[in-house]
Amino acid sequence: MTAHLFTDRLEDARTRVEACLEGLLGSDPLEGETARPSTLMAAIRHGVLNGGKRFRPFLVIEGTRLFDGPEEAALRVGAALECIHCYSLIHDDLPAMDDDDLRRGRPTVHKAFDEASAILAGDSLLTLAFDIIADDRTALAPEARLKLVAALSRAAGIGGMAGGQALDLAAEKSPPDEDGIVMLQAMKTGALIRFGAEAGAIIAGAGEEERVRLHRYGAVIGLAFQLSDDLLDLTADAQTMGKATGKDAGRGKGTLVALHGPEWAEKRLGELVAEAEELLSPFGEKAETLVEAARFVARRRH
Ligand code: IPE
Ligand code: IPE
Ligand code: MG
Ligand code: MG
Ligand code: MG
Repeated sequence: MTAHLFTDRLEDARTRVEACLEGLLGSDPLEGETARPSTLMAAIRHGVLNGGKRFRPFLVIEGTRLFDGPEEAALRVGAALECIHCYSLIHDDLPAMDDDDLRRGRPTVHKAFDEASAILAGDSLLTLAFDIIADDRTALAPEARLKLVAALSRAAGIGGMAGGQALDLAAEKSPPDEDGIVMLQAMKTGALIRFGAEAGAIIAGAGEEERVRLHRYGAVIGLAFQLSDDLLDLTADAQTMGKATGKDAGRGKGTLVALHGPEWAEKRLGELVAEAEELLSPFGEKAETLVEAARFVARRRH
């Protein structure tokens, strides 16, 4: 697959995901809601509709396409996952966590609004994600929706993203060894990416073997994703990244780049791409976009 075609696919998914999110973040209350407070809605929209790459929903869409599953349901599940990702970023930037002022090229939610709004925007987005999946408009069999809710809960919660963020902050005070770093990254970043990769198998009702294979692919590109993020923190500028860079070393973040240096990281990224390709090989040409997605993670410049 040409890099050009891959970029088109990513861009097409981004446009569709954004339209879907726009529709989900309207001001009218849904059945069962009383009102949608305007300042809270503005804070949420600031934290979501602000130019992310939408890489996680892209994985859901492409994973579903691999098994010719329903596109519209994939889009909604991708949007749900993006809500959780955006919540994780809004909270990650809070003064009590990474204390950052810039995100996706704009002031972070707590800077543009205030800390309470940022906390509540995150709370709302986490809840909304499960609302989206449970809703009948996500036109899947109830069993599939339940499986998605269960898998996403585990990916986002104590033993997933939130737990990983706790370990990430603890690591600033007491540096973990290499295995400790790999584990915290597999949780804080890997868990949501793994869910994105395997969701398509659930949406399309693929077999357990296929689901496990995609889950393993997600684990590999999840590691690569945080490795490249840590590398970019060292090598890229804030303008390109849309967020502050050069901060991890000063804060004593437990990263493999800090442990082994940038050349090692580049080499490791190459190995992870090869592993991802190997895992997808049984799917043949149909998995070309996902193979290209692994390369994108390793080579990304923002
Ligand atoms: C940033 O994720 C946080 C990490 C897990 C490294 P992304 O690089 O996907 O950020 P956006 O969504 O494109 O802004
Ligand atoms: C982010 O890791 C992980 C989550 C938000 C869950 P980072 O703290 O490295 O992400 P950036 O660099 O702020 O985007
Ligand atoms: Mg962080
Ligand atoms: Mg951060
Ligand atoms: Mg980072």
